[in-house]
Amino acid sequence: MLLKLSDVVSGYTDMDIIRGVSLEVHKGEIVTIIGPNGSGKSTLMKTIFGLVRLRSGKIEFDGVDISRLRTDKIVRRGMAYVPQERNVFPSLTVMENLEMGAFIRKDKFREGLEEVLTIFPELKDKTGQKVGTMSGGEQKMVAIGRALVLKPTLLLLDEPSSGLSPKLIDNLFKKLVSINELGTSLMIVEQNAKKSLTVSHRGYVLEMGMKRFEGEGKSLLTNEEVKALYLGG
Ligand SMILES: Nc1ncnc2c1ncn2[C@@H]1O[C@H](COP(=O)(O)OP(=O)(O)OP(=O)(O)O)[C@@H](O)[C@H]1O
Ligand SMILES: [Mg+2]
Repeated sequence: MLLKLSDVVSGYTDMDIIRGVSLEVHKGEIVTIIGPNGSGKSTLMKTIFGLVRLRSGKIEFDGVDISRLRTDKIVRRGMAYVPQERNVFPSLTVMENLEMGAFIRKDKFREGLEEVLTIFPELKDKTGQKVGTMSGGEQKMVAIGRALVLKPTLLLLDEPSSGLSPKLIDNLFKKLVSINELGTSLMIVEQNAKKSLTVSHRGYVLEMGMKRFEGEGKSLLTNEEVKALYLGG
C-alpha cells in the first residue's frame, strides 16, 4: 500500500469539508477521484499534501504516518502535487520552472530532468522559453514536469486536463499512462471522468466530502447509478 487515508476529516473554517474519507492507492496504480464541483476533491488533495490541516483521521504514505508532516517533508518522502491552478511560474523559463521543482533535492535534478524530457520531448527545444508565452498544453507539460523532476513515487494531479482541447486531452492521458508505466503511482482528480476512469485501475466518487462509490475504473464506468449521476448518462 502506497497511500492510505483512514477517516480523514479536514476543512478551512469551522465547517468540515472532508467528512470522514477512507481510501487507498496501491503501488503502481492510477486512481481517479471524480465528483461534482465543490464536493471537496481539491481539498482532499491539499489535505494529503499537508496544505490543509487534518482535523481527525490518519494519512499513511509508504508505511509512514504523515498526518502531521509538513509539505516539504512529504515531498522528501516521494510525493508530488500539481495544483489545479497557478501551477507554473509564467515569467520563468521552462528550465527554471523545472529547477524550481527540484530545489528541495538538487542532487536528483539531472536524472529527473532526463526523465521529464523523455516523457515530454516537446519541451526539449524550448527549455529557454518563458512559460507564460507557451500554449496551454505546453504549460501543462511544464507543470507536470516540475512535479516529476524529483521522480516521485506518488503524483497527485488536480484536474490535469482542464482547459485543453480534446486532442490535447488524449495526448495528456497517454503521457500520464507513460508516467505510470515508468513507476509512478498517480492519483488524479478529473472533471473528464470517462477519460480518466478509462486509464485508471480504480476510482472513487466523492460527494459532499464523503465517499459515495468506489471500484475498478471500468466497473465505475459501467455502473448505472454512477453513469446517471456523474458521467452524464
Ligand atoms: N481556501 C478556502 N477557504 C474556505 N473554503 C474553501 C477554500 N477552498 C475551498 N473551499 C470550500 O470547500 C468546498 C470544497 O471545495 P473544493 O475546491 O475542494 O471542491 P472541488 O471538488 O475541488 O470543486 P471543483 O470541481 O470546482 O474544483 C467548497 O465549498 C469551497 O467553497
Ligand atoms: Mg477542485
